Order: sequence, then C-alpha cells, then structure tokens
Amino acid sequence: MNENLNQNMTDEFLPGLDKSTDEVAWDLYRKAIRFGTWDPAEIDLTQDKRDFESLDENLKGYLIHFCTGFLDAEENVALKFCPWIMLGSSTEQQAFLSTQLLEEFKHTEFFMRYFTEVLGRERIRGVKNIVQQKLDERVKKMLAALEQETEEREAALVEGLTHYQGIIEGVQAMSGYDVFEAVFGSKGLFPGLAEGFARIKEDEGRHVGFGLRMLKLYARNPEHAKRIRALFDEYLPHILIRYDQPIIVNGKEYPTPPEVRGRERLLKMFERRLKDIFGTPVTV
Ligand SMILES: [Fe+2]
Ligand SMILES: [Fe+2]
Repeated sequence: MNENLNQNMTDEFLPGLDKSTDEVAWDLYRKAIRFGTWDPAEIDLTQDKRDFESLDENLKGYLIHFCTGFLDAEENVALKFCPWIMLGSSTEQQAFLSTQLLEEFKHTEFFMRYFTEVLGRERIRGVKNIVQQKLDERVKKMLAALEQETEEREAALVEGLTHYQGIIEGVQAMSGYDVFEAVFGSKGLFPGLAEGFARIKEDEGRHVGFGLRMLKLYARNPEHAKRIRALFDEYLPHILIRYDQPIIVNGKEYPTPPEVRGRERLLKMFERRLKDIFGTPVTV
C-alpha cells in the first residue's frame, strides 16, 4: 500500500462529528454485520508456501519474526478486549465493540494458519512489544473503573481507546501493513498474506475509525486531551522499539531488510494519528 492510499483510507474511515457517537457506533455495527464476513480459513495460501520455500534465507528469518509480531499482537488484543466492550456506555457502542472482539479472533486465526500452512513451524518467542505488554495493567484499570462513577469510567475508556485503537491499531498495526508492502507485497510475493492483510485492514478501518472518532470528541475536554497526549508521549519510545530490535530466529541473528524503515514509518503514523485527534499538525 502506498502512502497516499493510506492517507485516503484514514480520511475515509474517520467519521465526522456531525453524527452522535451512538449513530456512528450503530452504522459501524451494521457495516460489520453486512461486510465483515470474510473467512480466514478460505484464503488460498498455496502460492505463499511456494514463495516461502524459494525465499532467500535472510528474508525467511525476517518473515518469521514479522509474522510472530502480528500473531502475538492479534492474539493478545483478542484475549484482552472484553473491558473495552464493557465500558461502552450504550447498547449501540457495545454492539459495535462486540464485532471487534470476534474480528480480532479472526485475525489471530489467519496468522495461526499462516504459521502452520506456510511457515511450517511455531512462532518464535521473545519478539519485544512493550506497548502490548502494557495491556495487562490497562485491563486491570479498566475493570476497576467499572465499579466507579461515570467520570472515572470515562477517563479509563479514554485511556483504553488511546492505548489500543489509537496506538496499537492506529500506529503500530498500520505501520506493519506498510512494512509488508515494502518488503514483500510490492514484489508480488505472498499473495495470500497480502489478501489477509487487505481483509484485516477493512476490519481495522472500522476499529480505528470508531476509536479515533471517540478520541476526537473526547479531546474537546481539556482533561481528556491531556490524558490522550500524555499516553502518546509516554509510549513513543516503546513504539519505536518494534522495528528496531534484533531479528533472532532459533538463536541466529538475521539482518533487517533496508525497505523496512520502521522508525520512520512509525513516527509518520504517530504524527498522523495525533493530527486526526487534535485536528492540527503536531510535531513530536
Ligand atoms: Fe486485528
Ligand atoms: Fe483491530
């Protein structure tokens, strides 16, 4: 995916503030019911298997590391997503967020299949993603907020949306799609993975669209605006680690392909998301 396409997609999936949050949530819920019907089990992976067998050894190592990052992330968010649904403040919001829960499990299923059928191995251990690890404490805070007053619930939801929809999905995952395209997709390699990413991106368009729309609205409250900006700033160093770590598979280190340019992509996406939320260009 080229940069322009990505920018257009952002503009298109960010619903405006003219509709109420519940109307936006219900529209997205209906869209998920009507269009979110792809089946991870049906994507043809036969060419991907051939591509992997004939791939350069260094790129094989990179792909295993890259796909591990995605599988770990999709699985972790799927397993921990329930508090985001529970903090939704209406039937419409909870209905939409429940579609997101199922979709995160579909994304997990796709990558589980990819390891079994294409890479022919288990995922590796130890791919670092501190922003994902921090979901453990986030979930505890969100569950505790369920017992508290509306104000605390709202603050916990704002931080949850910033952490997950804003940073994990809006910055990290979106940069990952661009990395795949630059290293493999643009060379016509791994058509099954490209199709999986295309379907996942459609789902993510709804997830990120809803999250950013909520954050844009909450950012009108100066207290929430401070909260959102503080989390983006606190997590920035952790975000940048994602593509800056050594690629080690079975004890052997592999080089990062030059097309990855992870830091640059992450920073650009980071600034774009802040602009989506706060409306003006923000420099880091
Ligand atoms: Fe996902
Ligand atoms: Fe998602």
